[in-house]
Amino acid sequence: MYYPDEIVEEIRQRNDIVEVVSGYVRLQKKGSNYFGLCPFHNEKSPSFSVTPSKQMYYCFGCGAGGNAFTFIMEYENYSFQEAIQHLAQKAGITLPEIEYSEEARGKESKRTKLFEINKEAAKYYYYQLRAEQGSLGYQYLKERELSEETMKQFGLGFALKYSDGLLRFLKNKGYDEETIRAAGLANVDEKNGMYDKFWNRVMFPIQDINHRVIGFGGRVMGDGKPKYLNSPETLVFDKSRNLYGLNFARTSRKNHIIVCEGYLDVIALHQAGFTQAVASLGTAFTSGHANLLRRYTEEVLLTYDSDEAGVHAAIRALPVLKEAGISGKVINLEPYKDPDDFIKNLGKEEFENRIKQAENSFFYEIRMLEKEYDLKDPEGKTRFHNEIARKLCGFREDVERDNYIEATAEKYHIGFENLRKLVISYAAKTGMAVEAFRPKSGISNKADPEAGVKRAQRILLTWLADDPLIYRKIATYISEEDFTTELYRKVAGKLFEDLRAGKMNPASIISMFSDEEEQREVASIFNTKLEQLETQQEKEKGFHDILLNVKTSSYEYFSSRLGADVSALTKVIEGKKALEELRNIHITLDS
Ligand code: GTP
Ligand code: MN
Repeated sequence: MYYPDEIVEEIRQRNDIVEVVSGYVRLQKKGSNYFGLCPFHNEKSPSFSVTPSKQMYYCFGCGAGGNAFTFIMEYENYSFQEAIQHLAQKAGITLPEIEYSEEARGKESKRTKLFEINKEAAKYYYYQLRAEQGSLGYQYLKERELSEETMKQFGLGFALKYSDGLLRFLKNKGYDEETIRAAGLANVDEKNGMYDKFWNRVMFPIQDINHRVIGFGGRVMGDGKPKYLNSPETLVFDKSRNLYGLNFARTSRKNHIIVCEGYLDVIALHQAGFTQAVASLGTAFTSGHANLLRRYTEEVLLTYDSDEAGVHAAIRALPVLKEAGISGKVINLEPYKDPDDFIKNLGKEEFENRIKQAENSFFYEIRMLEKEYDLKDPEGKTRFHNEIARKLCGFREDVERDNYIEATAEKYHIGFENLRKLVISYAAKTGMAVEAFRPKSGISNKADPEAGVKRAQRILLTWLADDPLIYRKIATYISEEDFTTELYRKVAGKLFEDLRAGKMNPASIISMFSDEEEQREVASIFNTKLEQLETQQEKEKGFHDILLNVKTSSYEYFSSRLGADVSALTKVIEGKKALEELRNIHITLDS
């Protein structure tokens, strides 16, 4: 964070959340909160809430949430710094010069220069496409059935067939050769000196999520080689952390994102109304991409080319998505090659159907695997079944795994019990058995235990933020140490500190974090849906249960760390004592 905390906090306080959000969303007051239609996903009935007492917003539908800064960041596609600047201006606060270290300043000014020069280059190409000398390129894009509006939206351009057009333009603008080269816009060799990297190509500027041009892809018009030339990676162009079209897709408000292969696929999809489409930048799909997408969606639909290379790319991308916690599906484009081709031939309604029919990653992987085995040969068939069993072992949860065993058994005409046995024997052989096959009891069927613990912690924190007076009744039993992940511990620590000081301020806690993902998580911590408990008695029991739950898991956590962590012993002893006391006390909640 570059601006001093006090100023950030002052700006936040001077921008009331209700007022900020009202600039974009129609809000209606209900009780002490406001409700409206969520601007971050599609919905017909309002699940987007704004809470003045916490100075926060939260959507119970899509989980978007935060304070005034995060709202502006999400809505306007601003970075944290930009949101601060925007709200400072609204409140009439003059910001100090950003405090950079010497090194950071140097790097930042280099980055700024690269953003600038890329923008100039994009403007140059854009101009050429529309000028007489660019008619070839314009013609080409027209033939690809792109509308003027689409070309404009994506800022498409044209590089002339001279090898120094851009170079001269940029030098005239005052850029030195060093900067031009650092931006990847020119090549240098001994024979020719410095010359344009791109010539005689239609140009696709590549933008980051804040709409800043960070590089280019250039396509030959026709069949020349290479088909595409892409900018090299630079200080601002990291191919594994940017996706083409994400600057638009991130606000498409669909519940999934479509990942395809080519720039032109993205553009054709957007033109047809599928504004949730993105593509990687001429490289494979990486975990950097998956983590980036995780900020915006929980589901990704792959629509890679339907050739062998496309299938391989999908098979490689699916586990990467899963690893990032995204559910991946695959859209079948048969009999067409790619989304562009598909839409030209079958239209957008049919593509919409294919979206609905997208195949779950597990079944897709199995179906592709099937092609590698000769199922008429008993040995081939056995190996295929074993391979299915191996994949089924990947489901850690009993119920989920059983569901998949059942569905797979039916689909591939294998007996359910046979397949189940195969899975168990595979698991036993590979040592997965202990973890994967707990005895069937109510409890073992629960999802990730970690998630349960976090949920209890979230409920407790939300409860305290909603009803700050309870804190003094439980302050002796609970501390930040009881929160077992770093983020929760930080949040709890700050909240308790504020509560002790008699001022409760969740929205300022969000600003302690500069990472967007973390801000979102903090917002969700303070907006956990509490069970509707009717009577005072039910409420008191509910609260007591949650408190015990949090305290017990903290006790268990420290017990498991005995021996590994010197301070654990004290925590265990204290925890045991607190638990015994807690079990026997009654906490009254004032109604
Ligand atoms: P069209 O085939 O003209 O519809 O364009 P496309 O964007 O769909 O391209 P294609 O499906 O052939 O390739 C997918 C993506 O791979 C492109 O958008 C580029 O990012 C990348 N790519 C394709 N060909 C090349 C190449 O020759 N060199 C490099 N570096 N990347 C390429
Ligand atoms: Mn293509």
